[in-house]
Amino acid sequence: MKVLGIETSCDETAVAVVDRETVLANLIASQVDVHERFGGVVPELASRAHVEALTPLIDAALETAGCGFGELDGVAVTVGPGLVGALLVGMAAAKSIALATGAPLIGVNHLEGHILANAVDHGPGLAPAVCLVVSGGHTMLVHMPEPHRYELLGQTVDDAAGEAFDKIARFLGLGFPGGPALDWLARDGDPNAIRFPRAMADSGDFDFSLSGLKTAVLRHVKAERQAGSEVQPADVAASFQEAIVDVQVAKTIDAARERRVDTVLLGGGVVANTRLRERMEKAGAEAGLRVLFPSMDLCTDNGAMIGVVGTWRLLRGERTSLGVGADPSLELG
Ligand code: KG4
Ligand code: ZN
Repeated sequence: MKVLGIETSCDETAVAVVDRETVLANLIASQVDVHERFGGVVPELASRAHVEALTPLIDAALETAGCGFGELDGVAVTVGPGLVGALLVGMAAAKSIALATGAPLIGVNHLEGHILANAVDHGPGLAPAVCLVVSGGHTMLVHMPEPHRYELLGQTVDDAAGEAFDKIARFLGLGFPGGPALDWLARDGDPNAIRFPRAMADSGDFDFSLSGLKTAVLRHVKAERQAGSEVQPADVAASFQEAIVDVQVAKTIDAARERRVDTVLLGGGVVANTRLRERMEKAGAEAGLRVLFPSMDLCTDNGAMIGVVGTWRLLRGERTSLGVGADPSLELG
C-alpha cells in the first residue's frame, strides 16, 4: 500500500512515500537559508519557497521510491496546525494529485504525525501511551488510550519548548534554528553550573511554563556581563537545557503513572535533543516504562510521519473531501 505524504506546515518542504510503516523515500528541502537572516520563519517567504520546492521534490520522492503516480493508494497531507499559507501549498498539490490519479485524499494533523512517527522505528503497537509532543510551536502531554484517540493532559501556558531553545540560542549568538546548535554547545557545559527556575515543576498538573526560564537566562547573562564576569556560553546552554528537561521528564513520567500506561511516546523537533533523549531513557528505565522516540530525522518535520498517519486512517476507511480547508490551529483529537 503506497501512500504519498506531503508536509508543508512550517519551514520544511517534505515529501515521502511509505508502504505502511516502511519508508520508501523521505526527502526534505530545508528553507534554513531563506529564513536565517531574519532569525525566524517569515510566513510569506515560507509559502513561496514551498511553491518552488514542492513539485520537483514530489517527483524525486516518487523516483526514489520507484513508484509512479498511478501506483499511489493514497495521498496524505498536513492540514494543520501550522502557517495557513504554507499549509495551502501542500494541500493544493495533494488535492491535484488525488484528483488526477483517483487516489483518495487524507488530511493529517501535524501533531498526530509527530506522535505516530514512532511507528516507523518501533512498529504499529504504540497505544495505550502517554505522549510528550515538543516542537517549535507546541509543548503538550497527551494521553492516547487507543490509536487515534487523544486526550490533552496539559500544555504550555506560554512559550513552546522549541521556541525557548531558539530564542536563547539567538541570544547566545548561535544563529537559526537554534535548538540543534544549543544542544551541541551544551555538551561542553556543566548542567549544574547555574540553577535556573523549574517553572511549574510542583504545580500538580501537566502544564508547562517556559517564558520565566527564558527571562531568567537573559537576566543572568546580562548581570554577569555587567559585573565584568566572563560568561561561559556552554554552561548557560547546559543549565538552561537541564531546567527544561527536568520538568519535561518529571511530568511525563508522572502522567504515565497517573494514566497507568506502560508506554511513553516522544515526538516533535525538540525530541532530537540529546539530553532529553538521555534523561527520558534513564527515567523510563527506572520507572519500568517503555520510552520510545523516533530516529533523529523523524523527530523534526518530515513527510514520512504524515504518510504513516494517512495510511492508518485510510485503512480505517477514512477519506477527506477535496473541499477541505487548512486549519492553522487544528487541535489533536
Ligand atoms: O517539529 P519541528 O521540526 O517543527 C515544528 O513543528 O515546530 O520542531 C522544530 C523545533 C525548533 O524550535 C528547533 O530549534 C527544535 O525543534 N529542535 C531542537 C533540536 N533540534 C530541533 N531543540 C533542541 N535540541 C535539538 N537538538
Ligand atoms: Zn513539527
